[in-house]
Amino acid sequence: MVSQLSQAALRDQRSQFHPFTAITDLMAEGPTVMESGSGIHVRDVDGREYIDGMAGLWCVNLGYGRREITEAIARQSERLSFFHTFNGMSSDVVAECAEALLQRAPVPMSRVFFGASGSDANETQLKLVWYYNNLRGKPEKKKIIARWNAYHGSGVATASLTGLPGMHTLFDLPKGPILHVSAPYYYRKAPEGMTERAFSQQLAQELEDLIEREGADTIAAFFAEAVMGAGGLIPPPEGYFEAICPILKKHDILLVADEVVSGFGRLGTYWGSQTYGYEPDLITSAKGVTSGYFPMSVCYISPKVWDVIESEAGKAGLFGHGYTYSAHPVGAAAALAALKLIDELKVVDNVADVGPYMLQALRDRLGQHAHVGDIRGKGLMLGIELVHDRGTKEALPMANRTGRQVLKAAANRGLITRALGDTLVFAPPLVITRADADAIVDRFGAAVEDVLPG
Ligand SMILES: Cc1ncc(COP(=O)(O)O)c(C=O)c1O
Repeated sequence: MVSQLSQAALRDQRSQFHPFTAITDLMAEGPTVMESGSGIHVRDVDGREYIDGMAGLWCVNLGYGRREITEAIARQSERLSFFHTFNGMSSDVVAECAEALLQRAPVPMSRVFFGASGSDANETQLKLVWYYNNLRGKPEKKKIIARWNAYHGSGVATASLTGLPGMHTLFDLPKGPILHVSAPYYYRKAPEGMTERAFSQQLAQELEDLIEREGADTIAAFFAEAVMGAGGLIPPPEGYFEAICPILKKHDILLVADEVVSGFGRLGTYWGSQTYGYEPDLITSAKGVTSGYFPMSVCYISPKVWDVIESEAGKAGLFGHGYTYSAHPVGAAAALAALKLIDELKVVDNVADVGPYMLQALRDRLGQHAHVGDIRGKGLMLGIELVHDRGTKEALPMANRTGRQVLKAAANRGLITRALGDTLVFAPPLVITRADADAIVDRFGAAVEDVLPG
């Protein structure tokens, strides 16, 4: 986003293969290179300051430069910089962290399993689901249902669960026994005039029909984010989980709640499942658990699954799964510091206040704009979908890359957002104030008008 590339940008451009980046854009424009962060702000190597409206990648929930976390990391690095958890080994800080995490579960959970990323955690969940059904004598019950527009990670299995064709084509995915049902995308997919509740019923019927077609005895689990994130910022329509969950229960299908983004307060409750009132059998979390200060993921395992694993353990022998960095002691120290701050700063209450305030402020500022089709979200997960025509919902021409243009205009005004096609999204640090939300909305409103006047 700078005409003259800095040394750091040149170095990066010549040497780094970037994830989720269009190589042609990177070669033409160079990367934006950050050097420091404080609170909700980051600063690039050219000295420009931005409000980070995305908390990094929906993860720096407590903001940058939190001494309590950086000092906990430094202390633990000196005390015990690494130890593993294979073969029954552990470390004191990991034991404390596991207990603290269980205490914060939305429903009683039996164990936590650690990893280093949301992708590896969903990979663990997938394997656990298969392991569980093998152990309880249901080896045919293996298919997994996920949804179009879902994002569950970037590995072979998790990108297969992900319902984004751009992550499938050219990678020969999806692979494995994975089925997709429609996204609960009310704005785009509900028939004209249908209520949210009726749309939820329609989606539930589609799920039930699929289960009956495939045979419930072949279906093991349903993966779902509370609010879809990377697939377009899609909150569920009213009554969605209420309609889906009894079907899963009836057919003995596990519900895996992917709370990688929604966990630890982002929706204004500690967990996304609490916002929408459902009870997961397995929960995947990452990101906010350390506020992005250390790579860590956490799989929660309910008594229903754990009891089978424990009771069949003699038969199964060694549990043959895990990562070198499962339960890293430095990550555990970072998580303990972050969990304490979430409580002390009353972060969840703050989201419950500032989230709806920011949604309303976006609607007040842009709700009547000719090219703003939908402004939606929950807590501090907010999206603005740009369209060519508000009335017909006709999309903007893809070739214009309008979302990307607005993202750049916002950056020029000192604001980081993210463009998911022509839906611009915000997931700022959960510690933002109402005044910060106003600043984001002001800068964003101006950026939209820079690109799409009137
Ligand atoms: C809902 C969800 N699940 C899983 C992942 C994968 O996490 P990671 O990028 O840490 O592998 C993400 C990442 O954004 C996510 O949003």
